[in-house]
Amino acid sequence: MNNYQNHTKSASSKVKKEIAERVNVLLAKMSLEEKVAQLAQISGADFVPGPDAEEVLRKTGAGSLLWLNDTKRFNELQKIAIDESPSGIPVLFALDVIHGYRTIFPVPLAMASSWDPEVAVKSQAIAAKEARAAGIHWTFGPMIDIARDARWGRIVEGAGEDPYLGSAMAAAQVRGFQGEDISDPERVVACAKHFAGYGAAEGGRDYDEVFLSETELRNTYLPPFKAAVEAGVGTFMSAYMDLNHVPASASRWLLREVLREEWGFEGFVVSDAMAVGNLVVQGHARDNRDAAQRALVAGMNMDMAANAYTENLADLVNDGTLSMDLIDEMVRPILTIKAQMGLFENPYVDEGLLDEVVSRPEHKQTSRWAAQRSMVLLRNEDNLLPLSDKLKHVAVIGPVADSMAATEGSWMVFGHKPAAVTVLQGIKDKLSGAKVTFAPGPAIRRDFPSFFEEMFPESKIPEQTPAEIKAAFTEAVATAKDAELIIMVLGENADMAGEAASRGSLDLPGKQEELLKAVCALGKPVVLVLLNGRPLSINWASENVPAILEAWEPGTEGGHAVADILFGDVNPGGKLPVCFPRNGNHAPMYYGHTLSHQPEGHPQYSSRYWDSPTTPLYPFGYGLSYASFEFSNLTLSAAQIAAGKSLTVTAEVKNTSKVAGDEVVQLYIHQKWGTDSRPIRELKGFERVTLQPGESKTVRFELGEKELTYWSTNAGKWIQDTAAFDVWVGSDSQATLHAEFEVVA
Ligand code: NOJ
Repeated sequence: MNNYQNHTKSASSKVKKEIAERVNVLLAKMSLEEKVAQLAQISGADFVPGPDAEEVLRKTGAGSLLWLNDTKRFNELQKIAIDESPSGIPVLFALDVIHGYRTIFPVPLAMASSWDPEVAVKSQAIAAKEARAAGIHWTFGPMIDIARDARWGRIVEGAGEDPYLGSAMAAAQVRGFQGEDISDPERVVACAKHFAGYGAAEGGRDYDEVFLSETELRNTYLPPFKAAVEAGVGTFMSAYMDLNHVPASASRWLLREVLREEWGFEGFVVSDAMAVGNLVVQGHARDNRDAAQRALVAGMNMDMAANAYTENLADLVNDGTLSMDLIDEMVRPILTIKAQMGLFENPYVDEGLLDEVVSRPEHKQTSRWAAQRSMVLLRNEDNLLPLSDKLKHVAVIGPVADSMAATEGSWMVFGHKPAAVTVLQGIKDKLSGAKVTFAPGPAIRRDFPSFFEEMFPESKIPEQTPAEIKAAFTEAVATAKDAELIIMVLGENADMAGEAASRGSLDLPGKQEELLKAVCALGKPVVLVLLNGRPLSINWASENVPAILEAWEPGTEGGHAVADILFGDVNPGGKLPVCFPRNGNHAPMYYGHTLSHQPEGHPQYSSRYWDSPTTPLYPFGYGLSYASFEFSNLTLSAAQIAAGKSLTVTAEVKNTSKVAGDEVVQLYIHQKWGTDSRPIRELKGFERVTLQPGESKTVRFELGEKELTYWSTNAGKWIQDTAAFDVWVGSDSQATLHAEFEVVA
């Protein structure tokens, strides 16, 4: 069956019992100050001032330390915690390892474009291996926020707009990071973030407030988090923003009722950075003391870098405001995770291990494979692609064509220096006998600098004068003019998507579109490769550039993977995990909306814009191949099923071309009526298949209670209606092969 299945693996009840006893013994020995210290995550970086780490560790120990990436220092600090703190409890070293530690993999939005959870499992398993060899125990990933507004910069860190695909990718990333069991010494503990609703920031502005009904939360934004819990994720991170007027970091409903009481989560929750202190800024808490109290009572186990817990919790217990039982309740899962992962037995890292681990050839190979599987072919008029390797002179043009930072993309590990194969390099390697010329054209920059630029000044892109811009433009066109074929590599710099990297427009930044038009006017064949962290409204290109490859931010081996696809060594098979809007003003845009009473296409009073179509430029699930496929024989095992029962959907997919290729078979449903109005389409199954020329395959999906149940506003609970359903199977969210069935009482 090809519906997404989650695998739960938890420690045996005997092991659980032993660990619980061990934690109780520890707790009984610990002073109040030591317990509070376990609830704190302290900054190891100069850019966030905090208490002196050595001093804290010596005096009380600490739950965790973040923003440090120094193997030797990890061992030194760990030794202090173990040998000198009163209880000798080891520290958890934490860092954002989002899509690779030293070997960088495609950004998560790209991984989701593979529609192959194994890409996420294998990539994150290697990320975990490298990070663990460096001494990191805990990563702040996966980021599993559903994002339907491409202006929001953090869309790059997640799996896109869909709860079903998002859940599959969330579970896969957890499995990759943690393995079967968090005691695996080659893995890291994962952290599902940002709980919850962060992707729906108003206007797509990062950190802005979020208004989501319970129905929208439960049906769309929470499923990936539930999937992470079912996959055994060790920790959660709360979101920064206000969710329906309550900061998510102080939401009892989220942190206790949903996460623990409903889903049975047993790990611990860390706040986002400074989020406990931010409760004051957000107008929720009177002061830091009040903030500490509110967060703890709501169910926040660990305070990331705000020091609000360490400065206030002991007082709050001593004056009777908070109970020692509550403190114990919050410390317990932190000590439990430390025990479960074997940190007491193996607190140190072998300082010679990292170099050996990162040099393993399968790391780069896997990164290249993941990048190949993540890329999406958006256009290929008259089969311009794949290109011939007999080309004699190719020009590679564009500001990101030779940028290692743009190739590796958003969320670089602290202290990591980009070291990717750029697209220019990848093409040179592929066409070793040919002439490959290059001109970047005018540089692209943010109008407002990123705070990362202040933290890492070496990443800064200098501003060009108007004369320099003109000269770069002219040089690029001249370079293109001499070539037989031009590969334009356009998109976004690494700092243009990610945290605090929201945009109002989805156009190609800077002079890129102008340059693209000037190069196309030369009348030579042009291929456009996009390196970017979000959908872009490439309207002109979509009609005028014959071949377009969405390569996203593909990682260390990105340039090789692009060349593999452009020259036909690999046939692209990725699909969009997000719609591409025609305009940034159209965001939020997603395929799974409900029907208005006068939908687009209605002869009068169509509810949509009068100045542009509101259909996406490219729909969710879309992507081409060098092969072609045909779908047929959509069959349901029953025309009617009783509520609670399931039916089997089968469909045949055939490769009708002369080349082998991949197709992602996608199953969508629509409930035609019911207690609430339901989305016009919902993804409920997918499978990426490889087919040889002429080969057919029958793909099977199951539709049952799990797929047909939803949270209803009218009923105020999870329900399954008796109603009729449409079913489509095909190559994207506009699939036309259709059948129907009915759920009866
Ligand atoms: C803030 C970000 O929102 C979060 O995703 C990240 O994990 C923390 N900083 C720690 O770096």
